[in-house]
Amino acid sequence: MRVIQVKNYDEMSLKAAHIIRAQVELKPDCVLGFATGSTPLGTYANLVKWCKEDGLDFSQVKSVNLDEYKGLPKDHDQSYAYFMDKNLFSQINIDKANTYLPDGMCVDGDAECKRYDELIKSLGGADLQLLGIGNNGHIGFNEPADCFQNGTYCVELTESTIEANSRLFEKKEDVPRFAFSMGSGTIMSAKRVLLIANGKAKAEAIKGLMAGPITPGCPASILQMHPDCTVIVDDEAMSLVTG
Ligand code: F6R
Repeated sequence: MRVIQVKNYDEMSLKAAHIIRAQVELKPDCVLGFATGSTPLGTYANLVKWCKEDGLDFSQVKSVNLDEYKGLPKDHDQSYAYFMDKNLFSQINIDKANTYLPDGMCVDGDAECKRYDELIKSLGGADLQLLGIGNNGHIGFNEPADCFQNGTYCVELTESTIEANSRLFEKKEDVPRFAFSMGSGTIMSAKRVLLIANGKAKAEAIKGLMAGPITPGCPASILQMHPDCTVIVDDEAMSLVTG
């Protein structure tokens, strides 16, 4: 695991965007894995800027997203499809027909998980998967559990994640209880992984990711076994890792 320690959010966002830019420039028809949440917003803003001002070209890029809430339609302002469209896809020259997320409104959850896994496989997997990390060490919606999940599955969110995400909804009761998420196996099958984290609230999770045992109790810890994983982390998020 390669660790890049930075001073703050802006530096993290710039470095992450540079790595994604290099990926797109090296392989213009690459498959990018995207995440939602607060952490990647600055990274996406840099990519938007470079696309608009420097001609960074996403026209051949395909994308797969980590997860989606179950029960939210694409046009719900808290759905991840809406988030991606607003913060990235509508602002760069990616072909929206080449951007994929699990369908939160599907009728048959099991069939949707299978469809999404097959789709990712048919694209050849992600060349670069961007990840944030939850305060409890989750990646995607892979919450602390007794075992690692392999492919896409429907997950019941933990109280801590519902609490953390409730800031984005009018009231806590509005936060969906279930979501579709790539499993740890799918994330591990990405050729390269780039995890970004900032702020004190992530310090415990970063300690688990870097210095803890590999355990489904801290889902991100599985990344210790990934052959090409880069973590960009600011001083605050790094504060509990010693040595
Ligand atoms: C979102 C996702 C989540 C977030 C994590 C951190 O697609 O996969 O694992 O990365 O919850 O969220 P923020 O960045 O809001 O702290």
